[in-house]
Amino acid sequence: MIQIATSREDAAALDAEDPLAARRGQFGIPAGTIYLVGHSLGPQPTAARQKAQAAMDAWQHDLVRGWNTADWIDLADRTGARIARLIGAEAVSVTVTDNVSVNLFKLAVAALSLARQPVIAIEDDEFPTDQYIAAEIGRLLGLDVRRAAPGEGFAALGTGGVLIKSAVNYRSAEVADIAAYEEEARRHGAMIVWDLSHATGVRALSLEADGALMATGCTYKYLNGGPGAPAFVYLARDIANRVSSPLPGWMGHKAPFAFDAMYEPRDGAARFASGTPPILSLSALDGALDAFDGVQMSALQAKAEALGTLAIARACALGLDMRSPAEGHRRGGHISLRINDGYPVVQALAAQGVLADFRAPETVRLGFSPLFLTYAQVWDAMEALGEILQSRSWDRPEFHRREKVT
Ligand SMILES: Cc1ncc(COP(=O)(O)O)c(C=O)c1O
Repeated sequence: MIQIATSREDAAALDAEDPLAARRGQFGIPAGTIYLVGHSLGPQPTAARQKAQAAMDAWQHDLVRGWNTADWIDLADRTGARIARLIGAEAVSVTVTDNVSVNLFKLAVAALSLARQPVIAIEDDEFPTDQYIAAEIGRLLGLDVRRAAPGEGFAALGTGGVLIKSAVNYRSAEVADIAAYEEEARRHGAMIVWDLSHATGVRALSLEADGALMATGCTYKYLNGGPGAPAFVYLARDIANRVSSPLPGWMGHKAPFAFDAMYEPRDGAARFASGTPPILSLSALDGALDAFDGVQMSALQAKAEALGTLAIARACALGLDMRSPAEGHRRGGHISLRINDGYPVVQALAAQGVLADFRAPETVRLGFSPLFLTYAQVWDAMEALGEILQSRSWDRPEFHRREKVT
């Protein structure tokens, strides 16, 4: 039974009992900041800075030898193995490579070789990159692209084609039931490529137990890997050796330093590696993952749900228009509010040290990354939002000036 704080004292009391409270000390968050954008770019873990610095040092001192002395050559697989635990997968089923956009392309093309029908399906409210990739695969390969209405992706599995689907929607935060989708896919000979960008590091995923076959996701959101940190690929053991990447780079080869003209893919997810991995970013990610050591994903999910439920209760008290499910188990780590003047409202919040984000045309997102946020901070952020809306202080000219990134 989740307790919802009805005063700041209640919120502070929840913090005093929070088993994750000590993790906050592992992050270097500027004083006076309430960071509600962990669903977009996680803050900097101290260990990420240290491991990135160590990689810089190894580069300086060891030069090219660092590939062996610092074992850079296996870093993508080592970080993949650490992510595997967080998403309910075997180590061999996960590697870190490229970005989500590129991985969606690689996986969806590969999935088509296993699907019963040459059809690619996507819901209209998926993240734009997912839609662009689906449309372009259709155009390149001359395939039928089925655009499904939001929530109709499940029905689209009946085509026996390939569905690209987010486990947590980037806008609404609505959660998809991976096991139910996979069961339906199996019945129809369909394949699903999961986009786990908004689920990884905040939901207790069990990909293998749920029968998921292919997935990719960001590492710069809840995993706090840093701006532009590379993405991961998950490929279930059952199918790994039956599919190949349409971008077969040398790092996915069994013996890259044999310089063989014939491509022979590695086993497991590593066959979806393409070119040289970004070692500085991977090192930061490796450090960032330290914050998850010894943490149960169920505890993270429970706290994210509780923080979100507190924010929703306060948002309802303010009469705001909610775009996210009220029930914690149906919601990812963020909530979305429909606020017509959302952009200047987000700027006015930032001026008070409360960072949120805006997604055009009218969505304000507040993210509840459980490793470093406190209940009292969520309380304070919602108080600040209420005051800004009530006083209309968001309507000052400086808050209307548009930046490139919102
Ligand atoms: C759901 C989702 N998919 C894909 C992406 C894009 O990922 P990348 O920039 O790694 O290609 C994002 C970025 O925020 C996202 O939220």
